[in-house]
Amino acid sequence: MPPHLSPLRDLSPLQHAQLLDIELLPEQRMFAGDIESELHILRGRSHPDVCGLALLVEEVPKAFLLLKRGELLPPWARRDAATVHALQIDRRAQRCGLGRLLLTELPTTVRALWPQVHCLQLSVDEQNTAALGLYRALGWTVTGNGYRAAIGFERQLTLAL
Ligand SMILES: CC(C)(COP(=O)(O)OP(=O)(O)OC[C@H]1O[C@@H](n2cnc3c(N)ncnc32)[C@H](O)[C@@H]1OP(=O)(O)O)[C@@H](O)C(=O)NCCC(=O)NCCS
Repeated sequence: MPPHLSPLRDLSPLQHAQLLDIELLPEQRMFAGDIESELHILRGRSHPDVCGLALLVEEVPKAFLLLKRGELLPPWARRDAATVHALQIDRRAQRCGLGRLLLTELPTTVRALWPQVHCLQLSVDEQNTAALGLYRALGWTVTGNGYRAAIGFERQLTLAL
């Protein structure tokens, strides 16, 4: 089967354990947070407005992201959006096209999951040139401020669905 996105709830116990093998380079950790704490939060709650997704390559998770909507949206987001958080590709699998593939597949996955959502939004640090280059290449546009940064704010990016 080609690489594909899968909700975490559909993963096997082995695939759940393999999620913890996803690692970032030390200098990238500030951009996407720590997968272990995201998974810990998810384990503690089953909420209709949050969904973890894994990108499976030969059925092994190589990337992770979290989607939020409704009452879990950050304050900077549009009320009809789903927001993308903690997006990360395993460091050993970066620069192989997986980030592009994941983000290309994401709109279809979100439409199927949450048909009421009208756009995807995320907050990205302006120092994160790799991620910004990828988002821009796939049609995401800067639409304002995201999270507060050390100086000023991160950029808010939006993709219409
Ligand atoms: C950003 C990230 C998701 C990209 O994933 P990836 O699988 O390596 O990206 P791809 O191989 O699909 O590359 C797609 C495009 O992204 C950009 N890109 C990816 N890595 C890059 C890098 N290190 N430097 C510059 N541009 C980069 C390029 O435009 C690239 O296109 P090209 O290969 O034609 O030049 C990945 O580097 C990552 O997980 N980073 C750490 C976490 C993070 O920053 N998450 C985003 C939080 S908002």
